[in-house]
Amino acid sequence: MRKPVIAGNWKLHKTVAESIQLVEALNREAAGVSDIEIVVAPVYTALQNVAEVLAESNIAVAGQNCYPVNSGAFTGEVSPALLKDIGCRYCIVGHSERRQLFGETDAFINAKIKALISEGLGVIFCIGETLEERESDQMYEVLTRQIREGLKDIPADAMQQVVIAYEPVWAIGTGKTATNQQAAEAHAFIRGLLQGFYNEELAGQTRILYGGSVKPDNVDGLMAQEDIDGTLVGGASLKAEDFVRIINFKRG
Ligand code: 13P
Repeated sequence: MRKPVIAGNWKLHKTVAESIQLVEALNREAAGVSDIEIVVAPVYTALQNVAEVLAESNIAVAGQNCYPVNSGAFTGEVSPALLKDIGCRYCIVGHSERRQLFGETDAFINAKIKALISEGLGVIFCIGETLEERESDQMYEVLTRQIREGLKDIPADAMQQVVIAYEPVWAIGTGKTATNQQAAEAHAFIRGLLQGFYNEELAGQTRILYGGSVKPDNVDGLMAQEDIDGTLVGGASLKAEDFVRIINFKRG
């Protein structure tokens, strides 16, 4: 069935030394875990060191962002090919912080997903509504647009490389997690969209993660929901003890 994914998005935190210290601790604690995929996404400057520490490990390394072209005159950017070159297996795209703070559009995110797929990398594709959108009953419309435009022209066979992360913007970094029911409803809706845009088999195979204030004390309830196939964790992924507890969520 769907192998759960527990991913840590470190955002703009940690020096190289701090990053190494954290993954060494995770590696010690999570070395034997094989029933889920574990992913960490450090800052660019720590990626290579972290990838080296985790080279023989069951923990995969992800970029937090990329530019959709592999090389050229794009000052300051990093490409899928370069992420792959240093040992990344995944890249996060479409995070709400990138959409909101850096003006990333659905079309730009779509181009990144295509570029990552061409390089053979896994994609953690983030979607989610703002509080205003939820309160004005636009949530389903927003999620539909993000899925339709973000996955535009991506064929069904390439979708094996894509993991979706539902992150309601109002739950990110606020300590306000979606309730189990709110998350379950959104996930079921997203799976329904995949069925509509692709087919039932693909919808049944695609992993949909929940993100937004996931903590040791709420992960078990979230992971017990049928359509929640893992979590994308921000703040709680920065502390080994908390992230290890999340990795060890209660299995059903
Ligand atoms: P928090 O877990 O800190 O709310 O962040 C969630 C997130 O944005 C992960 O990508």
